[in-house]
Amino acid sequence: MENYETYEYDVLIIGAGGAGLRAVIAAREAGCSVGVVCKSLLGKAHTVMAEGGVAAALNNMTSPDGQKEGDSWKVHFTDTMKGGGFLNNWRTVEIFAKEAPERVLELEQYGAVFDRTPLGDIAQRPFGGHKYRRLNHVGDRTGLELIRTLQDKAVGVGMNVHMEVTLCRLLKDGDRVVGAFGYYRETGKFVVFRAKAVVLATGGWGRMYKFTSNSWEGTGDGLQMAYEAGADLMDMEMIQFHPTGMAWPPGMRGILVTEGVRGEGGILLNNKNERFMFNPEYTPALYKGQFAETPEEGDRWLTDKKNNRRPPELLTRDVVARAIYREVEAGRGTEHKAVELTVSHRGEDYIKRKLPSMYEQFHALGDVDITKQPMEVYPTIHYTMGGVWAEPETCSTTVPGLFAAGEVAAGLHGANRLGGNSLSDIIVFGRRAGAGAAAYAKQATAGAIDPAQIESEIEILMSPLETKGGENPYKIHQELQEIMQTNAMIARTEKGLQEALAKILELQGRAKHMSVPGDREFNPGWHAARDLRFMLRTSEVIVLCAIERKESRGAQWRLDYAEKDDAFWGKRNLIASLQGDAVRITQRPLPEMPEELKQVVEEYK
Ligand code: FUM
Repeated sequence: MENYETYEYDVLIIGAGGAGLRAVIAAREAGCSVGVVCKSLLGKAHTVMAEGGVAAALNNMTSPDGQKEGDSWKVHFTDTMKGGGFLNNWRTVEIFAKEAPERVLELEQYGAVFDRTPLGDIAQRPFGGHKYRRLNHVGDRTGLELIRTLQDKAVGVGMNVHMEVTLCRLLKDGDRVVGAFGYYRETGKFVVFRAKAVVLATGGWGRMYKFTSNSWEGTGDGLQMAYEAGADLMDMEMIQFHPTGMAWPPGMRGILVTEGVRGEGGILLNNKNERFMFNPEYTPALYKGQFAETPEEGDRWLTDKKNNRRPPELLTRDVVARAIYREVEAGRGTEHKAVELTVSHRGEDYIKRKLPSMYEQFHALGDVDITKQPMEVYPTIHYTMGGVWAEPETCSTTVPGLFAAGEVAAGLHGANRLGGNSLSDIIVFGRRAGAGAAAYAKQATAGAIDPAQIESEIEILMSPLETKGGENPYKIHQELQEIMQTNAMIARTEKGLQEALAKILELQGRAKHMSVPGDREFNPGWHAARDLRFMLRTSEVIVLCAIERKESRGAQWRLDYAEKDDAFWGKRNLIASLQGDAVRITQRPLPEMPEELKQVVEEYK
């Protein structure tokens, strides 16, 4: 076996998006040495794709009568539970709703520059499923500002960054995680990180779908490394289809169109020029009374948010995505299988000020002027609510020494995430994971690195380079994306899911015989082969969980089990764990919500 570089830290943080960077700050403040590994360059993370704002109940906004709207952690708690179909872990949500305002204000102290209200407070905009204006924002570039701010702060507190490194395996000493193994993407050279504690902050896994807002890094590496190390995964069937991805031109399909467009008054139209969200079929009974029932009433909301009910374009993402899907399926879409989103009635100045990135994106990529023309949109895979089970207080997982925060972790968002809750998630739980890992590291000794684990991983990694005339990883990836997009997307059935499962198992078989030309240096085909191994296993787990959950709730819409089954499925999370080489799916009862929080929900729902 060749030599490899070895680095040693108290805490290793995998992923340098918002959760990873916030974890760095917490672990450094606790006095630990910290190494950060990112697959791409520092600053390039999916965090930037949460454009419209960070949700926290600051209650800054006033209605025309000068009264504050009345937001509080209790309302945010209730909205998040309700939006998640009550599949969320109540304690995770409680911590989140209570701590989010403090974390946002802290960002400001770190140097984030938010938009302001006329009174000088942080400006907040409405988003789907949030009862009040709660999205603290920087135009439509909030995620970018968050990354910029946290990166500055993390560099200031001191960290060692290892960029363009793909990690492939968590290293264990007995039951405990003691490091990670991977390679430099540029040179293909192997590298080992030893650590007393490891924080996973690797984000989600949209790349096994054809149309996604995720960029190339979103292959689920952290999820799979945790799973292979023995961590429990939870609610993996819950994949978020953001209602509005770009639909045209073809090469841009899937790129995010921020919910901020609808938050700023954007409306959705079908090819009959109807605001189809007013179709009562799309408005669940749950929301009756909260939303405008006529387009005229919806429009009044733009000028008087207090006394008018919001337009149904601001229902939760699962509901709006399904409605768009159904309009297109019913033949009421555009020629590009999409619907129209228009905000031109807000005027050029307003749009350029509040939605500058959207203006530029459509102008540059689609030759569309959104101040005058509609955007064509269709749901895009955006986020994964399921993931590594993490305990709410410290973000520890079921594997000692391993912590998880942000999108890779499960528990906060239940069956559907509210927009803007992703950014507050990463600052609240990034901090907790960093602190939890630091506390663990301080009482732990450095574990032993087992060369056999490294050697077996090297064998897997080298196989496509050593196999001749085998399968092409790009071809397998394309076939995987086709089947996932067709059979495991918004509308699911037993038949479609079983077909997807059979195809995934076939692809897994073929993937054992992949071959790629060249060597380890500058070899994207080799990276693709490695990513595919993780994506195939993740797809298998998603599909198995989607088959198991025989009901419709949040992002899981089963045409053959169209109803929500509160009595049975509403009380269960699905857990996936690895048994030998096989996936084991079990049902786990949801933790019982305490009486005082039940009363909060009763009062605010
Ligand atoms: O639409 C958006 O701006 C996305 C926000 C989010 O996913 O939280």
